[in-house]
Amino acid sequence: MTNFEFFNPTKIVFGTNTIAQLDQLVPANARVMVLLGGESARKNGTLAEVKAALGAREVHEFNGIEPNPSYETLMQAVEMIRAEKLDFLLAVGGGSVIDGTKFIAAAVPFVGEPWDILTHFGGNIQSALPFGTVLTLPATGSEMNHGAVITQKATQTKLPFMNPLVFPQFSILDPSKTFTLPERQIANGVVDAFVHTIEQYLTYPANGMVQDRYAEGLLQTLIEIGPKVLAKPQDYDLRANLMWAATQALNGLIGAGVPQDWSTHMIGHELTALFDIDHARTLAVVLPASLMLRSESKREKLLQYADRVWHLHHGSEDERIAAAIEKTRDFFEAMGIKTKLSDYDLGPAAIDAVIAQLAAHGMTQLGERQDVTLEISRDILTAAL
Ligand code: NZQ
Ligand code: ZN
Repeated sequence: MTNFEFFNPTKIVFGTNTIAQLDQLVPANARVMVLLGGESARKNGTLAEVKAALGAREVHEFNGIEPNPSYETLMQAVEMIRAEKLDFLLAVGGGSVIDGTKFIAAAVPFVGEPWDILTHFGGNIQSALPFGTVLTLPATGSEMNHGAVITQKATQTKLPFMNPLVFPQFSILDPSKTFTLPERQIANGVVDAFVHTIEQYLTYPANGMVQDRYAEGLLQTLIEIGPKVLAKPQDYDLRANLMWAATQALNGLIGAGVPQDWSTHMIGHELTALFDIDHARTLAVVLPASLMLRSESKREKLLQYADRVWHLHHGSEDERIAAAIEKTRDFFEAMGIKTKLSDYDLGPAAIDAVIAQLAAHGMTQLGERQDVTLEISRDILTAAL
């Protein structure tokens, strides 16, 4: 295990009827901006509950943070918050609203052009407004981490940033608020959380025994409950387990002291930015092809994954590895998520475009060994056709 520091200050408030606790969680004299996506929180009553809990506080609303939040939209909120001198942000939504709120929190006090936050991957953030979240979609883990991914529409650039100043102060996780999610978003959430775990687990052995077992527990939980959550859309316990698994897949614990990959995500971000494919769907396309192509450098962990997660004990090493990758693909397909570029009407021309964007964004040495060059990324995408 390598040396590490672990810090996670986000308070989690989990369970039904917890939105009322906003009254204790948000400072009494706060001047609040509530950040929202499209219509879902308004339609399903979550926004009304939030407003009731905030009581007499001064509350403003910003609507319209889109999936894959755009810099262009978020800057409108930044201007409003600066003009009204608001001092507390509350994100009500999924990963896009929470990520957008993290950017806004850092951009409001930022001196200079806030897009520079992205080009510096967050390293130049000096301060940020305090914020909390009410999570409505289990998937990204954004509710308990200090990362966000923002898209500049004008240039089709989707970049991540990280900074400890953008940890949420608190996140309210009420699984019953996810009952209104369409099937497609539930499937996306399961697959996104699964791939987050894989990116931090399926690398090379580092003797992180706790991290490995913890990751394997999350993967097995997602494999077990994924199809059931689709089949029983009103089952509270399934929703609760999905929500807690997705949060823990990316709150820093399983990645501490072990190598991390993230190449699937970086290639996937380009597919979303260029072709508007849902984040999780890009991961389902890239991951199986990537595991196949990189199976030599991931050999030991692939065998461990085959053994402990999929219980594949028969056949040669190569056969067990191939079977584990096939099981992974089958799992995504069983969740209703297609795993080939052609399923999204993309062909070789799309690969050229993705490679050009990876080059433009400096994504030329990805993966736990920095050996995913542009050539390897091209091979991965070609294998995914
Ligand atoms: O916009 P509304 O109307 O609210 O509808 C949303 C949206 O259309 C809907 N939705 C959310 N909660 C709902 C609901 N519909 C009905 N009932 C509810 N309770 O779901 C749609 C998708 O929402 P979105 O927030 O975009 O989804 P998700 O949570 O999957 O977030 C994806 C974004 O997170 C980023 C992705 O790149 C993408 O931009 N990621 C953030 C990460 C992080 N911060 O750590 C890590 C991830 O790898 C990921 O990259
Ligand atoms: Zn993700």
